[in-house]
Amino acid sequence: MSQIITQVAIIGAGPAGLLLSHLLAQRGVESVVIESRSRAYCEDRVRAGLLEQGSVNLLERIGCADRLHREGLVHDGTWLRFGGKSYNFNFTKLIGKHVTIYGQQEIVKDLIAARIAQGLPLEFDVSGTAVHDIESAHPSVTYRDAAGAEHTIHCTYIAGCDGFHGIARGAIPGVRAIEHAYPFAWLGILAKAPPLRDELVYAHTDEGFALFTMRSPSVARHYLQVDVDETIDNWSDERIWAELRHRLGDDETGPPLVDGPIMKKEVTPMRSFVAEPMQHGRLFLAGDSAHIVPPTGAKGMNLALGDAALLSTGIVEAFAGDDTLLASYSPLALDRVWKAERFSYWMTTLMHVQPDSTPFRVRMQLAELDYLRSSDAPAMAFAENYTGLPYAIGLDRIAPVRVAQLR
Ligand code: FAD
Ligand code: DHB
Repeated sequence: MSQIITQVAIIGAGPAGLLLSHLLAQRGVESVVIESRSRAYCEDRVRAGLLEQGSVNLLERIGCADRLHREGLVHDGTWLRFGGKSYNFNFTKLIGKHVTIYGQQEIVKDLIAARIAQGLPLEFDVSGTAVHDIESAHPSVTYRDAAGAEHTIHCTYIAGCDGFHGIARGAIPGVRAIEHAYPFAWLGILAKAPPLRDELVYAHTDEGFALFTMRSPSVARHYLQVDVDETIDNWSDERIWAELRHRLGDDETGPPLVDGPIMKKEVTPMRSFVAEPMQHGRLFLAGDSAHIVPPTGAKGMNLALGDAALLSTGIVEAFAGDDTLLASYSPLALDRVWKAERFSYWMTTLMHVQPDSTPFRVRMQLAELDYLRSSDAPAMAFAENYTGLPYAIGLDRIAPVRVAQLR
């Protein structure tokens, strides 16, 4: 068994683990990242696509935003469609902020490439990950590498960035899960098709919710609300496009929906889930390992990056002799997480048809949507949450200097 000594062991090479490793490295803290999947799998996994301005700022500070600025699409606002018409909400006009469309797998590719270019430890295809002695000052992580050889990482802190199905959360004694299941799912497709509009369209229709988003000017991503137990086999490409045309394209005030070859399709369940606390002893959770949001409003990846930012600063300051921030990591992170949970729940409930809906509930949704359209006060609250609430600490405390582009 080989012995590895580092300052921070990071479990998981998703957005949270990778960003954490870069923020630590930038401020002189060593880490080792281990990941159970292959590099190709991590880089190909199609997931989120919308970045809050705070997330872009973080990627800029670590020097990993070059391609993002070249290929990312800056959106000043979004469309909400209801009652057969679409209405634009301009965040830049309302509150002076915007969002950026750039696929999660592109961020993951950029962060992996930068870590490898810096020659810093990042190991894929590991198995049997386990954490030990998290209540002591000398915790460790054991794992097997791709060839089956066993390793122990001796460290000062462990970051559990291993997603919803990881092992870290279960190592916190007495961890409490608070959750909510939604009675519907999302069918998502990635297609070679032109954009429906210049910005995203969230549609409330009698048949259910639909979302148009994009990955580039020639790649569209669409989502459809489907039954909670739906399987992808029930959805031929023809059926998907017909339903999308009905919910999104059939718009009195907008362009028709143009279809194209579907490259990927999948059904994703929707849930809200928060594990409390996010820390025990020397083990800290960040991202999906601690919380899940329903995808409406695109908070999942942004929350993961926000956690990593806060945790990195807590760890850096603790190594410098002040562990005040690190000791408050869990309550500070949870404050922001719960506000994003609230927003995702609100937007999901507002835009979807409940299976047991009543004419009264539908009228409540439509009245709220029309209130949003007609008054700047609720529109500003929507814009503020959608573009991202502030972090508990300022950017200069997270990453004081902006490093030169790494790629
Ligand atoms: P992850 O990205 O899950 O990364 C965790 C990593 O840890 C993984 O690479 C995993 O392989 C690894 N790992 C797990 N166990 C171990 C172990 N024992 N040892 C070592 N490594 C381990 N969010 C949005 O905002 N919009 C969307 O449209 C959207 N769509 C989604 C679709 C799907 C199918 C899913 C699953 C999620 C989606 N999300 C979306 C959520 C978003 O992708 C996540 O919030 C984001 O990936 C969280 O990043 P993370 O780093 O915390 O976790
Ligand atoms: C995307 C997904 C979302 O859930 C959302 O609200 C916005 C964008 C996306 O995949 O691009």
